[in-house]
Amino acid sequence: MPETKSEDYRIVGRKVKRVDALEKINGQARFAADISFDRQVHCALVIAGTAHGILRSIDTSEALQIEGVEGIFTWKDVPGENQLGEVIKDMPCLVKVGDRVRYYGDVVAVVAARDRRTAELAAGFVKLQIDELEPVLSIEEALQDRILVHEATNNRVSKRIRKGDAQGVLRESECVFEGEFYAHYQEQAYMEPQGITVVPDLDYGFTVYGTMQCPYYVQTAISNVLGLPMSRIRVIQTETGGAFGGKEDVPSYVASYASIAAFNLKRPAQIIYSREIDIQTTSKRHPVKSFYRVAMEGKKIKAVEVRAYMDMGAYATLSPVVMFRTLVHAAGAYEIDNVSIDTYGVYTNKVPPGAFRGFGSPQVLFAIESMIDDIAQRLGIDPLEIREENTLRPGSKTSTGHLIEESVGAPVTLAKVKESSKWYQLMEETTAFNSTNSYRKRGVGISHIYYGVSLGAGGQFLDKSGAHVLINKDGSVDVRIGGTEMGQGAKTVIAMIASQELGQRMDKIIVHQPDTAFVPDSGPTVASRTTIYSGNAVRNACGALKAKLSKVFMESLGGDSDLPIFEEGIVRDGRGHEITFDSLANAAYSANVKLFESGWYETPKLSFDMENGIGEAYVTYSYASQVVQVEVDMTTGSTRVIKAFTAHDVGKAINPDGVIGQIQGGFVQGMGYALYEDLKLVNGKVLSDNFNTYIIPTIHEVPQDLVIDIVESPFPEGPYGAKGIGEPSLMPVPASIANAVSMAIGKRVRQIPITPEYVLRLIEEKKD
Ligand code: MOS
Repeated sequence: MPETKSEDYRIVGRKVKRVDALEKINGQARFAADISFDRQVHCALVIAGTAHGILRSIDTSEALQIEGVEGIFTWKDVPGENQLGEVIKDMPCLVKVGDRVRYYGDVVAVVAARDRRTAELAAGFVKLQIDELEPVLSIEEALQDRILVHEATNNRVSKRIRKGDAQGVLRESECVFEGEFYAHYQEQAYMEPQGITVVPDLDYGFTVYGTMQCPYYVQTAISNVLGLPMSRIRVIQTETGGAFGGKEDVPSYVASYASIAAFNLKRPAQIIYSREIDIQTTSKRHPVKSFYRVAMEGKKIKAVEVRAYMDMGAYATLSPVVMFRTLVHAAGAYEIDNVSIDTYGVYTNKVPPGAFRGFGSPQVLFAIESMIDDIAQRLGIDPLEIREENTLRPGSKTSTGHLIEESVGAPVTLAKVKESSKWYQLMEETTAFNSTNSYRKRGVGISHIYYGVSLGAGGQFLDKSGAHVLINKDGSVDVRIGGTEMGQGAKTVIAMIASQELGQRMDKIIVHQPDTAFVPDSGPTVASRTTIYSGNAVRNACGALKAKLSKVFMESLGGDSDLPIFEEGIVRDGRGHEITFDSLANAAYSANVKLFESGWYETPKLSFDMENGIGEAYVTYSYASQVVQVEVDMTTGSTRVIKAFTAHDVGKAINPDGVIGQIQGGFVQGMGYALYEDLKLVNGKVLSDNFNTYIIPTIHEVPQDLVIDIVESPFPEGPYGAKGIGEPSLMPVPASIANAVSMAIGKRVRQIPITPEYVLRLIEEKKD
């Protein structure tokens, strides 16, 4: 197959210094808890502390007597709408007396005090009287509808795909396989907990500072809760210490609580979550139970039928949108003519899951990739070859019938890992190892995935982004975007794009913190879309500015010139004229040239039939293939990843170091999901609510060999051909590890995390 070669540029694709590195390592960077204002109060939440019940009364009298407490606010103190939710407004901001408590972390009151310790202490003295009700704690119980979490039914949301005739093919086929899989919760485990400060400001409104992915969501939420027009709410993102989806909708809720204190006290109000409150009350990855049936003909996948049930917890939050991704990715990165998929979201009395790197796709990609592996093994087909046979390629149609002709690097990523892992040799070595070892067993696993970049057909009204670029008279450049930096490297990529387009040196370009006062609603910073959307918006603005500077350059030479090129701070034409970018900016300034421009980017409209799940689901797709080798200790059941080989089609790596960083991080986070991270709940209360009991991987678990191949199959709409990598970096990991463990122990792994207890149970099963 032809490997499309991407172009070479002076800045794009080169090694650069990360623009926010210095301040983040020398401690200058200011995160949510690093800012404070005169007369600021500190807030803490009073949570329900029970999974299901009716709130009968709130007694704040004792808590109010604690020295340093400045106020305690309940539903009565909410000036605007006491209701939250990005898609379905089914969540109270503060639970009203007489209303239902639907999960342990439902927020009942906000305590404001002179310091955080006092606020947290006083929160414990607010007495709640709750008549307890029997809770719904599992997907199975929820589906019975015996106890209702909301009105009517627990099965409120569903979506489907009907392509071809999967049922018919399955009925007629002689080669049908079935499988059942379960993926548990995963906590985002960002280093910096949730935190927001709301400040009454000079414009008689509120300025909001905090750690977040989506300033425009926060602006809308506070505007509703306070009953103020959006023009009175200005949101500025502080440095954000990780998010991974966990700061998509959640900061809207956090900010709402703080804004109620700020509004009532007319003072700045800050809330910084403790790790325990954060884990108890905020979103996670959805638990998903899925059932697969697959019909084969030789090596070819003829039909796939999926039913997937997602535990939405007590409130819908982002679940209906997350589910669209579950739906589209459930049949994997393959060309299959007959696909039938049903996804359901059910309410339970537990913490509401939401966005997390992959957004509903890792759970089903784990399932389909385990399924394909199982089939290969049963049919005696090499697991890599079955994927080569069925993979999406240029000209294929996806499970939603989306014809994909450009930027389909899937066959190449497969070829890359085949080569880097020395696939056949690795398989042989591993088998040889196992024949001489009985207490330690090794396994090799492969996975192959695709990932829809952008918000897709379900969220087109949000798929847009703005930018504002200003050239100062000294040649320095201010770039403002609506997308946020949360550690993923957005600022560096944006600075590189501005530098590439303007020809100004990177050290003269600053990418500012997002501020809703400067750039209009640019949608959320999610869905691995920032490089494409904010990147193109910046590119458009820079293009317009460069045209003006070119004009000034040529006019100054009175016709004795041609169109100049801009490179590394120097502007020159083909006739020997040359000027620094800085001097040219100054000349333009003196000539009263308008040196600021806004940029805008929106993708071409997608055509999609929601009823049958058929059409263009996303603007483009990223692809990845991965091979891992694991070793399982057969006596303890614990698993270690020894080697990993991963290849990702990113369209174009604008910042190759950043892409590698994302892939490394995504791999480790995916490894945690696959092997270690085990959220324990009892009666709807999270027991593992800090990192002493919720175990995430550390440097010790990172495999010595993590070989990364970047494949560049350019996406014509993307800046320089770029697509997204933030989320696809994680997606192949759970399946490749599960498949490797399955080979090692000779039993099919059907759930993640693959804890030692689960592995031992599978090994035991084998004996009888
Ligand atoms: Mo992301 S999981 O699209 O914030």
